[in-house]
Amino acid sequence: MTTVPSYLKNKSNLSKNFFISTYGCQMNVNDSERMACLLEMAGWNPSPTVEMSDLILINSCSIREKPVHKVRSEIGRYKQLKQKKPYLKIGVAGCVAQQERSKLLKQIPLLDFVLGTDAIDELPQVLLQLEHGKKIASIKQEPKKPYHVQTLIGKPGISTFVNISKGCDNFCSFCVVPFTRGRERSRPLSQLIKDINSLVQRGVKEVTLLGQNVNSYRSPCGADFAKLLENLAIKTDIQRIRFTTSHPKDFNEELVETMQKYRSKIMDFIHLPVQSGNTNILKKMNRGYSREEYIEKANMILKKMPGSVLSTDLIVGFPGETEEAFEDSLSLLDEVPYESIFSFKYSARPFTKARSFNNQVPEQIKSQRLSKLQKKHEKIAFLLAKKYEKAFLEVLVEKKDKKTGLFMGRSTQNKLVYFKGKNTDIGKIMPIRIDKVNICTFYGEKYDKNYKKEKEMD
Ligand code: SAH
Ligand code: SF4
Ligand code: F3S
Repeated sequence: MTTVPSYLKNKSNLSKNFFISTYGCQMNVNDSERMACLLEMAGWNPSPTVEMSDLILINSCSIREKPVHKVRSEIGRYKQLKQKKPYLKIGVAGCVAQQERSKLLKQIPLLDFVLGTDAIDELPQVLLQLEHGKKIASIKQEPKKPYHVQTLIGKPGISTFVNISKGCDNFCSFCVVPFTRGRERSRPLSQLIKDINSLVQRGVKEVTLLGQNVNSYRSPCGADFAKLLENLAIKTDIQRIRFTTSHPKDFNEELVETMQKYRSKIMDFIHLPVQSGNTNILKKMNRGYSREEYIEKANMILKKMPGSVLSTDLIVGFPGETEEAFEDSLSLLDEVPYESIFSFKYSARPFTKARSFNNQVPEQIKSQRLSKLQKKHEKIAFLLAKKYEKAFLEVLVEKKDKKTGLFMGRSTQNKLVYFKGKNTDIGKIMPIRIDKVNICTFYGEKYDKNYKKEKEMD
């Protein structure tokens, strides 16, 4: 039997519906899945619309500007709903919750509770405690507590995220994550093998291993990230393994060799955030590598794993970034063949060192640099994508796209591929011959295992 919080008892039908809105990275997406699962175990139901919900949870992100403002304005939209349904509870979880703590309750009167990044599993108890309009902030971080949690996911798809570590100890001078996610902790290797095998039993074909810096993964038994990949490749029945995010300073040859050795299972796509192409700026960012060391590492990867694909993150307008320093980020695009990039304007974050650096770059210059960088990369990406025309890519079919009626999946290189298929293709890995390329979205035709065109199609 499930316990009904007393603030819901005067509701006519006692149904308990929840709605979660998620911002930020894959880790937040995964945390939202976990919260949804915990709520369902406690007798709540996912709400078809936000208006029908009795609980609204905002899983927030603080990586760039105005995160508190975004949370406040979303909650502002629920003002009338809360007037109509006084028992409606609104909570904020995620990185803004951890950053602002109980302050958030004072800043936003409509808010009922704040759930820190280490307090996700306390959600059901917090809801029970929300009696008589009392407000709650559960934000305690426990840096010494071992990280032993099983993946919780209601209906896993073909491809699913699995956390291997949480937190970050790198303290890049621009980044708020070490302050919102706390110290780095890794899950034990043996537990990850069990966890992934049980996801396989539930139909999962691909896992993306998540961590802020997967390369510094260290199991309590001593195994490093390369050993983890090797063990997952050998000891689980998962068909595909991806991971994100890699830190260039910890990406070593042994890891690339492991990836190459188990290439049938470990995908040949590496997101390797560089942040800047200028050594002086990289030093100020506290990234732990120079432009030259980064380029050397990228070349080592491409040489040892021919055909592998790189992508990156870049920040423009970091404090002290001169025109020449920015030019170094532009010219890096000529040196490393990134097939995709994610680029951002630097945003000063609370608690970070870079916040108090001299020579902050004006917004207007940041915007100009961002657009210049993106335009340059668009041309490069278009040319790089051309090599896939007429090529066969191995695609794991994920689902039917409702809009186009086409089926979609991802190639080993993480390209989104659309093709005409049928429902029984879902979950299979099939060769697709690419007819049309559009930077990261490709269109093609399916072939059978012997690379012959399939006859019957519907
Ligand atoms: N752990 C990952 C990054 C997580 S944050 C890594 O080290 O690569 C994702 C991206 O957001 C970063 O790679 C960076 O490019 C961007 N980012 C982080 N803080 C930022 C800030 N203060 N301003 C602008 N972009 C930022
Ligand atoms: Fe932030 Fe740097 Fe840690 Fe990535 S490695 S989460 S950018 S501090
Ligand atoms: Fe955002 Fe926190 Fe992820 S700041 S990017 S939700 S780790």
